[in-house]
Amino acid sequence: KRAPIASLPGIDHLSIDGAVEEAGIAQSLGIPAVLLFGLPAAKDELGSGAYDDEGVIQLATRAIKAAHPDLLVIADLCLCEYTSHGHCGVLRADGVVDNDQTLELLARTAVSQAEAGADAVAPSDMMDGRVGALRGALDEHGLSETPIIAYSAKFASAFYGPFREAADSAPAFGDRRGYQMDPANAREAVKEARLDEDEGADVLMVKPALPYLDVIRRIRDSTELPIAAYNVSGEYAMIKAAAAQGLIDERAAVLEALTGIRRAGADIVITYHAKDVATWLR
Ligand code: PBG
Ligand code: ZN
Repeated sequence: KRAPIASLPGIDHLSIDGAVEEAGIAQSLGIPAVLLFGLPAAKDELGSGAYDDEGVIQLATRAIKAAHPDLLVIADLCLCEYTSHGHCGVLRADGVVDNDQTLELLARTAVSQAEAGADAVAPSDMMDGRVGALRGALDEHGLSETPIIAYSAKFASAFYGPFREAADSAPAFGDRRGYQMDPANAREAVKEARLDEDEGADVLMVKPALPYLDVIRRIRDSTELPIAAYNVSGEYAMIKAAAAQGLIDERAAVLEALTGIRRAGADIVITYHAKDVATWLR
């Protein structure tokens, strides 16, 4: 594989021990939470690594919580890192994602992640009705205290490239436009956020962040829930690449970009710049 332009801190093929160490560094810098993505040893049609109680996320969650109990562990909840075809759900014979069968597997995954000790689950699949399905499954298993951080407005974006490279999760065929949102449609994003709130979401997320500041603001103005914004891998890589070429001042550019995300209305910012920023702001 070709070398990535910028490595993604905390994403690039860490071992479980490596993840525990990264988590410890994050915590010592004052970062309150980490978001975990799993890269299983083997992928299959049904993404079974996602809901395996001994899966990579479950093992990492247990290990991180044992070593750093006060650091919040958020488990990203999706099938695309675990499916051989790279889609976020189970495929029907015609190659289209089967929404309802996927919901069952996502619910199993949420319960397994929460039982492993995840402080919150963050569904990033964009299936219809998932927040309600997850809330129901968690409650049934005595996990009513586990919050759901819903990727409510997740756009079909070109800025996910470096992540897909790292997680080897680019769809083997087709694209994700059947379930991710149209970048041109802001009203739909507000509607999706409202649906997630009605289904029981505890935090609403917008992803990516910088091309969608207006969406962050619109959702901010339409709810009392906390809003998270995910400054994704391509946004990170652009700044890193430009700074590496001496075109911009990295520190000033990062702080300006993240300030813009906060100004737009995000209460929580998820970013690969976290360790750098925490160091600069000490
Ligand atoms: C999919 C998922 C994506 C990312 C993480 N999980 C988007 C996608 O591949 O469609 C991207 C994160 C990033 O770019 O930093 N569930
Ligand atoms: Zn996915």
